[in-house]
Amino acid sequence: MKLHSCYLTGRRRHTCASKMTWFVVAAVAVCVLVPSSHCASATVDWCYHNSSCNDATWSTIAAPFCNGTRQSPINIVSASATGNPNLTAFTFEKYDDRSVLDKIENTGNTVKVAIKTGVKVSGGDLSESYDSLQFHLHWGNGASVPGSEHTVDGKHYPMELHIVNSKSSLNRNTTLAVADSTGLAALGFFIEVMSGNATGQPASWKKLTSYLSKIPLSGNSAKIELAISLDDLLEGVDRTKYYRYLGSLTTPSCNEAVVWTVFKDPIRVSKDLIDLFSTTLRISNNTSSPLMVNVFRNVQSAQPVTTQHSGCGSITASMTSYFLGLALSFMLARSWN
Ligand SMILES: *[C@@H]1O[C@H](CO)[C@@H](O)[C@H](O)[C@H]1NC(C)=O
Ligand SMILES: *[C@@H]1O[C@H](CO)[C@@H](O)[C@H](O)[C@H]1NC(C)=O
Ligand SMILES: *[C@@H]1O[C@H](CO)[C@@H](O)[C@H](O)[C@H]1NC(C)=O
Ligand SMILES: *[C@@H]1O[C@H](CO)[C@@H](O)[C@H](O)[C@H]1NC(C)=O
Ligand SMILES: *[C@@H]1O[C@H](CO)[C@@H](O)[C@H](O)[C@H]1NC(C)=O
Ligand SMILES: *[C@@H]1O[C@H](CO)[C@@H](O)[C@H](O)[C@H]1NC(C)=O
Ligand SMILES: *[C@@H]1O[C@H](CO)[C@@H](O)[C@H](O)[C@H]1NC(C)=O
Ligand SMILES: [Zn+2]
Repeated sequence: MKLHSCYLTGRRRHTCASKMTWFVVAAVAVCVLVPSSHCASATVDWCYHNSSCNDATWSTIAAPFCNGTRQSPINIVSASATGNPNLTAFTFEKYDDRSVLDKIENTGNTVKVAIKTGVKVSGGDLSESYDSLQFHLHWGNGASVPGSEHTVDGKHYPMELHIVNSKSSLNRNTTLAVADSTGLAALGFFIEVMSGNATGQPASWKKLTSYLSKIPLSGNSAKIELAISLDDLLEGVDRTKYYRYLGSLTTPSCNEAVVWTVFKDPIRVSKDLIDLFSTTLRISNNTSSPLMVNVFRNVQSAQPVTTQHSGCGSITASMTSYFLGLALSFMLARSWN
């Protein structure tokens, strides 16, 4: 998950180092928590592609948060997720509105879509209503080299969609949100290749990906004019089934301010559309710069994960079907005698 504080403050600059562009993000968030003397140089150079600034270095180059103790993403071990009946359904406001997507942007390390005001999520054991600010994606290299951030039982999906939400009471002030241990709520959706030989499906993803060719270079952006709702993009996902844990932003400065919800069902998108991400977008403002591939952070230390049903719940369910099966065979056996 990425939260570009610079996007909200309008501060962003790029520096180029030979063939490699480093993304220099104004680390406004850090300044909230450390003495102002450190803030004059509070920028962090990070990247995915170069061993001198990739995720293996973040705990050093983007301390203190990136070397914290509740970092994201994680591998979710489904059998270790404990049951919590408080994880009820969410209420989504304006997720069915086909005019809420605002601007789509190539940031140099993801493609991000800004969401207009008035779009909200609540319920699901969140402490209050959260405003949906933006969504962005993580991917590998085509449908065959997976690049989700979270993994489930060690499995990476081809892509992962993150909807970033901040506590409504904080009025979209991300400086305040990243300083609050539950200031942000991230909704994570896995993206899986649609089975069969379908192309250009679903229609909502065909519309969304039609903008990628308009934003090939870092810094390019386009206004979304086509009618696309968040519900359209999340088609096929049962949003009552999810994992929950407390974690962080998955890019520097990795603030530990995120209530994570990772949905169990993937969104299914045809292979041709998934492949567009790794073949259309470049990491800097230069047609000869590398394509944007493998834009995800590796998994971090495990965290306690909860879900709707405990491991015991599924044992109970399988025992129930076992006994139903026994009873049925008993009845059949009787009817044959
Ligand atoms: C990585 O970044 C360093 C420092 O800017 C640069 O010298 C090196 O050439 C880069 N490596 C690649 C593979 O781009
Ligand atoms: C993170 O790094 C800082 C500075 O290098 C250090 O003081 C702190 O103990 C580290 N925290 C963890 C959890 O390793
Ligand atoms: C569920 O919510 C209630 C009321 O807030 C709380 O007391 C309880 O500890 C919660 N249960 C779990 C498993 O978190
Ligand atoms: C966010 O809140 C902080 C602390 O109250 C304040 O200093 C800052 O100006 C606010 N930022 C915006 C963009 O309103
Ligand atoms: C997909 O296309 C291949 C090659 O054209 C074909 O052999 C296969 O049966 C198709 N599969 C489906 C599910 O349509
Ligand atoms: C790309 O870089 C050139 C030269 O620095 C600049 O003129 C142009 O505005 C940039 N384009 C974008 C979309 O950032
Ligand atoms: C664009 O890329 C080429 C080849 O890598 C390089 O020589 C040139 O300096 C780059 N231009 C900019 C503005 O980064
Ligand atoms: Zn993300």
